[in-house]
Amino acid sequence: MATRTQSRQSNRSSTSGGASESSRRSSQRSAFSWGGDAGPLLAAGLAGAAVGIAANYGRKFVTQAMSGISGDWDEVLATEHDMTLAVFDKMLATDSSQTWKRGMLLMQLTHALDKHAHEEEMVVYPALREAGQATEADQLNGEHGYIKTFLYELGQMGPDASNWLEKVREFRALVAEHAKMEEEEVFPAFKRGLDEEQNAKITSLVNKDGFWAA
Ligand SMILES: [Fe+2]
Ligand SMILES: [Fe+2]
Repeated sequence: MATRTQSRQSNRSSTSGGASESSRRSSQRSAFSWGGDAGPLLAAGLAGAAVGIAANYGRKFVTQAMSGISGDWDEVLATEHDMTLAVFDKMLATDSSQTWKRGMLLMQLTHALDKHAHEEEMVVYPALREAGQATEADQLNGEHGYIKTFLYELGQMGPDASNWLEKVREFRALVAEHAKMEEEEVFPAFKRGLDEEQNAKITSLVNKDGFWAA
């Protein structure tokens, strides 16, 4: 059976009307021209990739399972808001000597906000626009940009900066206000217009997106 490289070479010569001797020589030296004893190396590489993929799936399942979040899409998102605000509270309970803890909590916060923003920006906000709530979706989407700006600023200033707590406090206030607008105004208005099937579809899409973003 022809190898992939051989197939590629024969395709190339059939389309170009015959490859020159020099181009044949160079393609034989290409990174894809495996030598006779490359089989075990290739197999080891593929096995390693399979282990990596399996570990990543495992991590996603564990992350999802540990989050213990269930219910409709809006309940899932509201629970994530509460969990995120709880991380802020842990950050606000630190002092400037706890730089390692501050760094870990900032990483945790970044991951939680990333996953949450992905679910909203890839599923909920597009569905809001489709339902005629584009103004609200665009405002909320714009606020996500400022949330990322706070993450950037905290990363730049370092965990021992004298104004670290003040920055975290300001950041928490923005996230709390944003979450309140979603939970109390925008999401209930949107949900009222959904039938059971549409609501279930949004829940399924948010859960799927959350799995991939975990
Ligand atoms: Fe949001
Ligand atoms: Fe949200």
